[in-house]
Amino acid sequence: MPAHYDLILRNATVIDGTRAPRFEADVAVSGDRIAGIGSLSSSSAKTEIDAQGKVLSPGFIDAHTHDDRLMLSAPDMAPKVSQGVTTVVAGNCGVSLAPLLLGSRAAPPPLDLIGDTSWYRFDSFSAYVGELEKKPAATNAALLVGHTTLRVACMENLEQGASGSEIRKMQLHVEEALEAGAMGCSTGLYYEPARAAPTEEVIEVCRPLTARRALYCTHMRDEGARVIDSLEETFRIGRELGVPVVISHHKVVGKPNHGRSKETLALIAERMKSQQICLDCYPYEASSTILTADRAALASKTLVTWSKPHPEVAGMDLNEIRTRTNLSVEQLLPAGAIYFMMDEADVQRVLAFEHTMVGSDGLPHDAAPHPRLWGTFARVLGHYSRGLGLFPLETAVHKMTGLTAKSFGLEGRGVIREGACADLCMFDAGIVDEAATFARPIQPARGIETVIVNGAVIWRDGKPTGERPGRVLRRAPA
Ligand code: ZN
Ligand code: CU
Repeated sequence: MPAHYDLILRNATVIDGTRAPRFEADVAVSGDRIAGIGSLSSSSAKTEIDAQGKVLSPGFIDAHTHDDRLMLSAPDMAPKVSQGVTTVVAGNCGVSLAPLLLGSRAAPPPLDLIGDTSWYRFDSFSAYVGELEKKPAATNAALLVGHTTLRVACMENLEQGASGSEIRKMQLHVEEALEAGAMGCSTGLYYEPARAAPTEEVIEVCRPLTARRALYCTHMRDEGARVIDSLEETFRIGRELGVPVVISHHKVVGKPNHGRSKETLALIAERMKSQQICLDCYPYEASSTILTADRAALASKTLVTWSKPHPEVAGMDLNEIRTRTNLSVEQLLPAGAIYFMMDEADVQRVLAFEHTMVGSDGLPHDAAPHPRLWGTFARVLGHYSRGLGLFPLETAVHKMTGLTAKSFGLEGRGVIREGACADLCMFDAGIVDEAATFARPIQPARGIETVIVNGAVIWRDGKPTGERPGRVLRRAPA
């Protein structure tokens, strides 16, 4: 039956996000929904896009971001949209912009990765959600509340476990955040401000997750020698709360631990039989976070991504900085860095693991960011799927769409089917790849042609359209 739609993408090769084999079809959009799939040659639309020879997939969901502030300060979200990302999960690694009023206090690392003092100005999670809804970004957002942010907001002394009354305060904030739309709570037990938190503190602070079966996401305490203990701690927290856990950016770091992803993935697979476990990773053998001398000591090579007192060293190798300028690590702080400390075989094993989602962990405010910020999704599609043949394109797409939507409870997203939300990405499968490199990290990906969020085109002809249809998504009851 002929119909009239808002938009038709004609003759697309559809990869629907479920891992099913690709098929040829026209895809029609009305309002914010996918309204028709099939042969729609007798139908018309206000806008028609020729998708002949192109892949049309669900828009990508970035399972792990630090875009809390980017959505407010650069709402076109170019680093993400240029790769086909239509939803970002923010508030990871224990760090969320809300709820925290820093006043005149400096943002302690790692909180300074997403903003300086002036950005920590939301006294409640609902105030932050309200601002995002008033001034929407191009992409949708799924939000987490960060345990480290709560510690900084509620505790006197970060070098010890929280007292009973501090735990109570943090719990109330978690409850308020969930009520305001947060999908769960994140921790960064690896980082100084949360290291002193015993497992029991995390469990108590996260109690409000249980009633809603909200998510517990974690940058684990240790991704090196004690990675197995850290996995067990994560599983225990999930079991005691009765909620799903998300292991963030799963990896094994440090030379003596290379190869141990065999052990970690086997353990994860075993525990998945009895509890709900999700994991994400970024497709690179270098990590990136704040700079410290101990972290640099463990890496085979360290690149500085930003330095507050010495912005001129951004992008430089730490050894080169030492010899050329005589500056010590301490003199560069606060600063950020890229650390080469993983093994490529582990990266590929984790990425190829059936249950692993793709998340960029990009740091959007770094002067010389890790290329994962602009390259992650295109690199998985191009380098790993097409180039190395690590998995078929249908699997690559699933890891960044359907699997992620299911893990986070994003109903109607991450799939192409009638009635689903019209978040879409059209790309050239023969060309798609990252353009960003460690030397030139700020480069839009190749081959991403059209990106659509809630029915609105947000990326076309290699640039943002200026449309900002993003919404704050709620978690569907599990
Ligand atoms: Zn992290
Ligand atoms: Cu992170």
